[in-house]
Amino acid sequence: MDSIGSLGLQQGEGAPGCPQEGLPCPSNTSEMVQECLQQFKVTGAQLRQIQTSLLGSMEQALRGQAGPAPAVRMLPTYVGSIPHGTEQGDFVVLELGATGASLRVLWVTLTGIEGHKVEPRSQEFVIPQEVMLGPGQQLFDFAARCLSEFLDVLPVGNQGLQLGFSFSFPCHQTGLDKSTLISWTKGFKCSDVEGQDVVQLLRDAIQRQGAYSIDVVAVVNDTVGTMMGCEPGVGPCEVGLVVDTGTNACYMEEARHVAVLDEDRGRVCISIEWGSFSDEGALGPVQTIFDRTLDHESLNPGAQRFEKMIGGLYLGELVRLVLAHLAQRGALFGGHTSPVLRSQGSILLEHVAEMEDPSAGAARVHAVLQDLGLNPKASDAEWVQCVCVAVCTRAAQLCAAALAAVLSRLQHSREQQALQIAVATGGRVFERHPRFLSVLRETVMLLAPDCNVCFIPSVDGGGRGVAMVTAVAARLAAHRRLLEETLAPFRLTREQLAEVQAQMREAMAKGLQGEASSLRMLPTYVRATPDGSERGDFLALDLGGTNFRVLLVRVATGGVQISSQIYSIPECVAQGSGQQLFDHIVDCIVDFQQKQGLSGQSLPLGFTFSFPCRQMGLDQGILLNWTKGFNASDCEGQDVVCLLREAIRRRQAVELNVVAIVNDTVGTMMSCGYEDPHCEVGLIVGTGTNACYMEELRNVASVDGDSGQMCINTEWGAFGDDGSLSMLSTRFDACVDQASINPGKQRFEKMISGMYLGEIVRHILLHLTSLGVLFRGQQTQRLQTRDIFKTKFLSEIESDSLALRQVRAILEDLGLPLTSDDALMVLEVCQAVSKRAAQLCGAGVAAVVEKIRENRGLEELTISVGVDGTLYKLHPHFSSLVAATVRELAPRCVVTFLQSEDGSGKGAALVTAVACRLAQRTRV
Ligand code: BG6
Ligand code: GLC
Ligand code: GLC
Repeated sequence: MDSIGSLGLQQGEGAPGCPQEGLPCPSNTSEMVQECLQQFKVTGAQLRQIQTSLLGSMEQALRGQAGPAPAVRMLPTYVGSIPHGTEQGDFVVLELGATGASLRVLWVTLTGIEGHKVEPRSQEFVIPQEVMLGPGQQLFDFAARCLSEFLDVLPVGNQGLQLGFSFSFPCHQTGLDKSTLISWTKGFKCSDVEGQDVVQLLRDAIQRQGAYSIDVVAVVNDTVGTMMGCEPGVGPCEVGLVVDTGTNACYMEEARHVAVLDEDRGRVCISIEWGSFSDEGALGPVQTIFDRTLDHESLNPGAQRFEKMIGGLYLGELVRLVLAHLAQRGALFGGHTSPVLRSQGSILLEHVAEMEDPSAGAARVHAVLQDLGLNPKASDAEWVQCVCVAVCTRAAQLCAAALAAVLSRLQHSREQQALQIAVATGGRVFERHPRFLSVLRETVMLLAPDCNVCFIPSVDGGGRGVAMVTAVAARLAAHRRLLEETLAPFRLTREQLAEVQAQMREAMAKGLQGEASSLRMLPTYVRATPDGSERGDFLALDLGGTNFRVLLVRVATGGVQISSQIYSIPECVAQGSGQQLFDHIVDCIVDFQQKQGLSGQSLPLGFTFSFPCRQMGLDQGILLNWTKGFNASDCEGQDVVCLLREAIRRRQAVELNVVAIVNDTVGTMMSCGYEDPHCEVGLIVGTGTNACYMEELRNVASVDGDSGQMCINTEWGAFGDDGSLSMLSTRFDACVDQASINPGKQRFEKMISGMYLGEIVRHILLHLTSLGVLFRGQQTQRLQTRDIFKTKFLSEIESDSLALRQVRAILEDLGLPLTSDDALMVLEVCQAVSKRAAQLCGAGVAAVVEKIRENRGLEELTISVGVDGTLYKLHPHFSSLVAATVRELAPRCVVTFLQSEDGSGKGAALVTAVACRLAQRTRV
């Protein structure tokens, strides 16, 4: 026998007065009893095997590879940190399932002050057997009635109460207040509860009861309550062990080891649910015939086999089965059984505890047996005591093996050779059987010799811990409410969007008529989309988006070939003098020509210039005002083509033939129109936002002629600059606008485009931080920095393929110290901001396509929209949200969105090609 095998003998040694050989009792009795007791002996090797196998089962479940058999479950509990002891407030705690057929309600006051404890009030209610086995609704209604009864005698009035629900059954938790029962264990088997959210069932019952306003804020397993309630000050307590009606433990696991969690940092409390441990190889050798009978006759045969050897619900039953067996075989009670001995569940944990107590003399045991309706002989008492000791000792040893597995896990995951750890213990088996803890402790010392374990009894039966979790959950719920309030103005209704569409539509009409309107509706002198007959080599410039590009566009029979180069425009140039800006542009062209071997050639040039220009012809465009980040002096009010030509002249070496100036929306429409003749709208959602479309010339007041069409640059970025969007504008939009270089201008653009969305998000994050909702209320210097939160982060953060941990990495790169709750909230902020942007954009597109449909007097319009811009292209959901909004608001238009592949430079070249062709014709 190995070193701890002797523990198995404790049942003989530990029970004073056990009949030893030679004592006056029938030898066959002694043999029969000894044979039974022998079955309950567990060797050190067997315990080690259980420890190893359970550890394997735990690690497998952590990796998410649990086999088909219900091994241990390793359920994350959403408790991420052990309490600081600063939590405070009054909480109601409802406990169901820990202690057999009783339900407990507590009123717990947390003071937030170390050492200052207010005793909780509590009341226990017995759950009738028919309620434990009846319909689920009946059980929850019973719980709600108990709550009311408890509160009736307290001075609570109408105040809203926060409740923590200790529900001690295996549950899949998906949040602190969401928990689906997997299966009943112990003596419960109510119908229609498995697979349901027990928090919701309790809420519904409280509502049906209608007596108090109670918010169920958190749900916890009893092991978690036990661990969390550990008195602060005794060092961190990171394991909670319960041996009550059933048995289980929870412990703090490294989050990165929990496959089902999307988390790579910190720790999370895992409820092991070791009661369902079932490895036949490890458990089989220690199971007795009595265990098998007990399992067979239980409410859940085959399930919770480990629990059935340890939990308080079963210890009495095991003793009963052994005694009945011995009585039947004539070894006890003169060979008589009794109705009590024959009825399941008649010997309770209390009876066993009393009889097993070493200080209980034979007379006491005798008395208990008599109370049970048995008629013991003098020697029976001693044998019965031995049976009780054997059953409980084995339970404590098995529990120790399981705890040793948890300790090994902790040692391993924390890479600590010697572990110093506090284990909070709770449950009636600990309270009533002082020997249980001592056997447990000794066995653990032998099985996990490197661990220094300190056992701490739970406070208020775990009630305080439940209140702690509830306090944290209540804080999180309050944060969520603040988040929702903050984001509410971003969530637009269909009516609001329809109103935007209607206003846009009206502003378009006014703009076309030359009446006061925030939409300028600028004629572009582009009268037709390409017809495919365009040919030639062209130079193109593309200024005003993220990149400044110079391009060589070859339009030939086989298609269009493009070579291009990106040049940077430093901010000091974009916001310096006009002359400097245009000189820089010409320098880039010269460089490009040299690299392309085009020096000396004077190719026709199309200039995509993505700013509002009043055009008098294709090659004339007066810059009305800068938008986006540009602000070069002495340009507004000037003809941009002239400014370019002057710069060319200053740089005498080059000759360039500027034929057309086009807005990027127009370039995009033309570029996509080359592939699809239905493309009659151009849309940009990038640094800025804007749209153009083919309008009937008769509707354009500022251009002569009544027949044919002309492309109109709406400049919708300025929509709302007359105050018409003020209803939708939030305080964050106001902040972004005020801090911009053009306050009061481009209000629609500032709610939609890439240059601003990151800033809106940043302002929301600042606000949420000031409310204490984010980043633990700590304002960081980084977040105060303008433009630190790029719009591309929205696209990255909202990407479906990205785990929350990657979201956090992005934010951490920004120097934001966040928790995973923070990461989730930031994601929600991004989603709200980008969704509003896409929907507003969709409302704009709906207004445009509806106008075209009505212009043409069509019942249904089939049309394509050419789109460009980094936000539209890179954001994972923007384009589908735009399309969905358009479908909703313009149901009579069948709209296809075409993403421009080649940028608007190709379109500018095509406009130039058409112009050259027409010019040639006029010359002829
Ligand atoms: C580019 C076009 O692809 O998209 C530009 O060629 C346009 O003309 C730009 O201005 C818009 O997107 P962003 O994101 O670069 O502003
Ligand atoms: C049962 C339950 C478990 C609980 C334990 C102790 O094993 O399934 O959730 O923690 O009993 O009450
Ligand atoms: C800004 C410009 C507009 C351009 C848009 C997209 O709104 O004013 O001309 O089309 O940005 O780049």
